[in-house]
Amino acid sequence: MTARKPMVAANWKMNKTAFEARELTQALLPELKKIEAVDIVLCPPFTNLSLACEQIAETDLKLGAQNMHWQEKGAFTGEISASMLADFCDYVILGHSERRQMFGETNETVNKKAHTALAHDLKPIICVGESLEQNQAGETAQVVETQCRESLQAITPEQAQNIVIAYEPVWAIGTGLAATPEGANEVHRDVIRPVLRDLFGAEIAEGMRILYGGSVNAENAGELFAMSDIDGGLIGGASLKADAFVAVVKAAAETL
Ligand code: 13P
Repeated sequence: MTARKPMVAANWKMNKTAFEARELTQALLPELKKIEAVDIVLCPPFTNLSLACEQIAETDLKLGAQNMHWQEKGAFTGEISASMLADFCDYVILGHSERRQMFGETNETVNKKAHTALAHDLKPIICVGESLEQNQAGETAQVVETQCRESLQAITPEQAQNIVIAYEPVWAIGTGLAATPEGANEVHRDVIRPVLRDLFGAEIAEGMRILYGGSVNAENAGELFAMSDIDGGLIGGASLKADAFVAVVKAAAETL
């Protein structure tokens, strides 16, 4: 049993045209709006945020963006600022491994973005996780600890209460090969939570949510979410189909 409210976030990544995104949101709403026990966050592509915002207006669902720039505004062609997102979103995913691997995201840029996001009342969902190589070399704890500490630099305990951490082992993303519930929980409980305790104190750390992401689906979600320190999920593939995502959210509701 945990006092932390479970949270499930859908990361649609670079999928869904505006039309398709509208259809998916429409299909999700009847079921999801009945589930109060879980904080549900949809993170569609930027191009769908405005419409999705209208679609979820009468519900408790929240929106998140998948990335942002740390600068307030200016000559950064192609980038999106925190204040632009704040019109629509409550959350923003920062430091997803796909951005780290393909678009040069570092702990330092994640940290800058986290500060800017918080200044605009956006709650960062900060992603950490080791590669297959690092996992096999036994470096998981060290890699994840460094990612957490550097991404959270100069964040105050008060600010930390608005931050969510997502542990997403790179080898588990989109592979169908999820971490075992025990394996993921070990990282959450023995690596991430202790870092949060060290940085922000025991009480704040206990209240912070640590999500797991990486091949979560309708079948394995229940077992994962039942673990002591897995407070929900960041869902990729399974969030692209209404039935599968609703089943994952229901699994989170049942772990209460
Ligand atoms: P999958 O659920 O497709 O493995 O993706 C996880 C993820 O990267 C969510 O951010």
